[in-house]
Amino acid sequence: MREQWRAVLLLVRTAWRTDPWRSAGLLLEPISFLRFPLFAWFLGFMVDGALRHDARLLATGAAGITATRVLWFLGRWTGSWIRNRLTEEVGFALDREIASLSSGLPGLEHHERPEYQDRLEMLRQQQGVLGSSLNTLIYTGNTVVTGVSTLAALAFVSPWLLLLVPFALTALPIAAVQQRWLREAEGLSAPLHRRARHLQALTVDRGAGMELRVFGLENEVLDRFRHAAAEAQRPVLRVARRGALLDAAGDLLFLAGFAGAVAFMLWRARQGQATAGQVVMAVYLAQQVRSGVVEPIRLAGFLGEMLRAAGRMLWLQDYAREMSAARAGTVAAPERLVDGIVFDRVSFRYPGTDRWALRDVSLRIPAGSVVALVGENGAGKTTIVKLLSRMYEPTEGRILVDGVDLATLEVGAWRRRLSAAFQDFARFEFAAQHTVGAGDLARVDDRPSVRAALERAGGGHVLDTLPGGVDTQLGARWDGGVDLSTGQWQKLALGRALMRMDPLVVFFDEPTASLDALAEHALFARYAREARSGTERGAITLLVSHRFSTVRSADLILVISGGGVSELGGHDELLRHGGLYAQLYLMQANAYQPDAEPVAP
Ligand SMILES: Nc1ncnc2c1ncn2[C@@H]1O[C@H](COP(=O)(O)OP(=O)(O)OP(=O)(O)O)[C@@H](O)[C@H]1O
Ligand SMILES: [Mg+2]
Repeated sequence: MREQWRAVLLLVRTAWRTDPWRSAGLLLEPISFLRFPLFAWFLGFMVDGALRHDARLLATGAAGITATRVLWFLGRWTGSWIRNRLTEEVGFALDREIASLSSGLPGLEHHERPEYQDRLEMLRQQQGVLGSSLNTLIYTGNTVVTGVSTLAALAFVSPWLLLLVPFALTALPIAAVQQRWLREAEGLSAPLHRRARHLQALTVDRGAGMELRVFGLENEVLDRFRHAAAEAQRPVLRVARRGALLDAAGDLLFLAGFAGAVAFMLWRARQGQATAGQVVMAVYLAQQVRSGVVEPIRLAGFLGEMLRAAGRMLWLQDYAREMSAARAGTVAAPERLVDGIVFDRVSFRYPGTDRWALRDVSLRIPAGSVVALVGENGAGKTTIVKLLSRMYEPTEGRILVDGVDLATLEVGAWRRRLSAAFQDFARFEFAAQHTVGAGDLARVDDRPSVRAALERAGGGHVLDTLPGGVDTQLGARWDGGVDLSTGQWQKLALGRALMRMDPLVVFFDEPTASLDALAEHALFARYAREARSGTERGAITLLVSHRFSTVRSADLILVISGGGVSELGGHDELLRHGGLYAQLYLMQANAYQPDAEPVAP
């Protein structure tokens, strides 16, 4: 319950912050929701006025009814106008907040834990729902005004008329039963729905589209889709029929109560205890009792569900606050490296897993060095990159940057000293200029810099193939957009990594997997030369590659296996050592020269 109140408060606060005038204007709408008792009351005046030939009473009734209609019209019109605008604004404000909170999370843990992922996914899916929940909140308030005022007016005529309420309340168990049936039916259809959605997605998916055509599967998939969709509908249709019957039974029950109320009022009139006007008023109000009682309760249930979406927003706010506090290093990031980076007994497990991705790693990366990480798939190379860029924190041990614990450095400032081409590089579908320029936001529009970075990345020719040069919109789904091959995207990502002028640590995590070995070697040999010539800042280059022709030019090679460093040294030293590195190197060297004699260390 406390959560729900927090959610209500969140909505109200956001509305007030977004648009205080409209928020205040909303208070006008509930007044117009007094229309039923007011209308019934003035109708009673008119009836009594007509029967008693009392022109004043008649005129008061007529004027009252007109005023009630006008009030209703104005209240509804301005209310819904204000409400629509406000809920839209609040929806946008909250959607913006979701985007800013989730992209501002300091690490990546939320992508790993299923329960976080589910909540984030639900929040993303329910964008817009948060705005509507404000609408529902206000509307629920309005129906409460209608319900309470209707019952109060009935009690004013005769408290006995409130006996109609239990008849109206039968609608609630009926709705509960219908809801349960519906949930069960939805549970039955869910797997079929999922299947139908999957099949439908196949028909519009580009990758699947190629296989559908090659294997002639279009009709087969369409048939399966139609079948699954029809099957998924079946249980829901069945309960809809049963639900309609139940509704009819509930209606009959209320009708019986209503008939009793009418009979009771007629009896009172005969006894001289009620005027004709009061009879009309009571009959008019009695027919509103059902919706007057049931609507607020029904909407409150609905509101509860909507508030759960707002509750998830609160969760995200709390989580973001917690994570930022946990990562709130305060030490300024260094301007240059003197000693280097030290891993001091670092172990790491991905959140939600119990396998060590890195176990007890201790090593020193000297300032100014070009370091290569090699190892089999899944050895832990990318994990080292992620720890150094503080996407995660070590589970045990420390990483020291010039003797200072990396965890104490201000995370944003540290990241501004990095640059990276990640293995899972992003495909920013912007104009090519910005896709590359994003690597150094300050120079995002600087054409010569983008061109130079791309040239260094060996991707200058990608620009030449684009119809509008650097201004070409990338991504086929945009107007005039051009799609690129995986290798071309990768070159742009590499260009992005070369945009920052003076990074202290640069990661290249297999950024050239789609280049041939010779091109990759040439690229990194040139880059390593550049990196070494700028050693006054002590910058470190960390290169992950499976290609030993590239790796061998590094100053220091770390062989990662099974989450630990198994060998460490220069190329010649490791070959002499005759361990895993030598073995893998020779295997690859021989594979490139199948007819050649095995290369001896
Ligand atoms: N997000 C994750 N959640 C859970 N486990 C992960 C995650 N990412 C990686 N792992 C696991 O951690 C281990 C190390 O993975 P890592 O990505 O560091 O390997 P890698 O050496 O970079 O491999 P590759 O050469 O294939 O890129 C692997 O066993 C992998 O299954
Ligand atoms: Mg990797």
